[in-house]
Amino acid sequence: MTPDMPKAVITGLGTYVPDRVLTNADLEKMVDTTDEWIMTRTGIRERRILPDDMTTSDMAVEAAAKALDQAGVKPSEIELVLVATVTGDYVFPSTACVVQEKLGLSQAGAFDIGSSCSGFIAALSTGTQFVRTGAFKKVLVIGADAISRLVDYQDRNTCVIFGDGASAVVLEPGTGENGILSCYIKSDGTGCKHLFQPAGGAKQPPTIDSVTQRQHFIKMDGRETFKKAAKAMTQAALEATRLAGLETSDIDIMIPHQANIRIIQAAVQRIGISMDQVSVNIDRYGNTVAASIGLALDESVQTGRIEAGDRVLLVGFGAGLTWGGIMLRWGI
Ligand code: UT7
Repeated sequence: MTPDMPKAVITGLGTYVPDRVLTNADLEKMVDTTDEWIMTRTGIRERRILPDDMTTSDMAVEAAAKALDQAGVKPSEIELVLVATVTGDYVFPSTACVVQEKLGLSQAGAFDIGSSCSGFIAALSTGTQFVRTGAFKKVLVIGADAISRLVDYQDRNTCVIFGDGASAVVLEPGTGENGILSCYIKSDGTGCKHLFQPAGGAKQPPTIDSVTQRQHFIKMDGRETFKKAAKAMTQAALEATRLAGLETSDIDIMIPHQANIRIIQAAVQRIGISMDQVSVNIDRYGNTVAASIGLALDESVQTGRIEAGDRVLLVGFGAGLTWGGIMLRWGI
């Protein structure tokens, strides 16, 4: 990053998860699975599920309101709102526009970013560029997914993994040591087929057949995705560290996307850091898609695991395939 530009600094952080808990014991009654299989193969014990009367924008608004409050920023001061999601309220308009109306972000530009589980990295990287160039001084970045709306609760390959949630940050310029030090984004479109929602888009619009054949639900080649994930997350971690001018020995804490504890462990081993330096909450929330990194970041700040000056590495991986990393120095 060009040194004479300001850094983008996280000045507020907020999260939201629904109250309803779906446990492994609940899933045992729905599909042919066991608590033991889910715990050993994924590390997930329970996940949160959105009530019928709520949607992605509602969770986004809850998380964003907390982030704005913490930053001491009024909704009318926000100049840009970015929502990372693959489960927008509508195919169009963007969920960012829905959030804009609900929160009264009267002066903001608004758009969505659809990078699935690495969406938080993509949106935070995008927001960072606007802040660094001086185009905007107050940017709201949200990662929110009601992924339970796309999960087939008859498919044990996917239904045990996912949960709902939202996280949000406010970005503002800063000229000190703290802030975002590097952004790294990568993708491989040849991997589209490994993890996707076949029907519901323009390629296969919803029909009675597509619904009967359950084509509007997530389809995932778990094994293939797993193999790519550990490698890509390692690359993202190393590149974000290198671009920040740091070594892996400088990493104080890593906040990975929470897809599978075994993916996290494999990446951590390759990066050469210890699991003690990694924030893990997959046991309680499962894979919350674009919300996961912000949820783990917030939890690490709340519990005092992250302190001002710490070098925090965010790493994501998801459908597309997409992956990326952000190195930041925590604090205002
Ligand atoms: O968010 C980013 C994108 N997503 C991911 O990163 C997910 C990546 N993939 C994974 O996390 C793992 O591949 C899964 C958790 C999805 C699956 O774990 P796995 O260890 O890769 O299992 P597998 O697909 O190789 O299946 C092993 C066995 C199979 O049975 P057979 O063929 O060996 O008899 C599956 O049918 O486990 C079976 N299986 C299950 N058994 C009980 C698959 N799902 C379940 C289940 N309960 N829920």
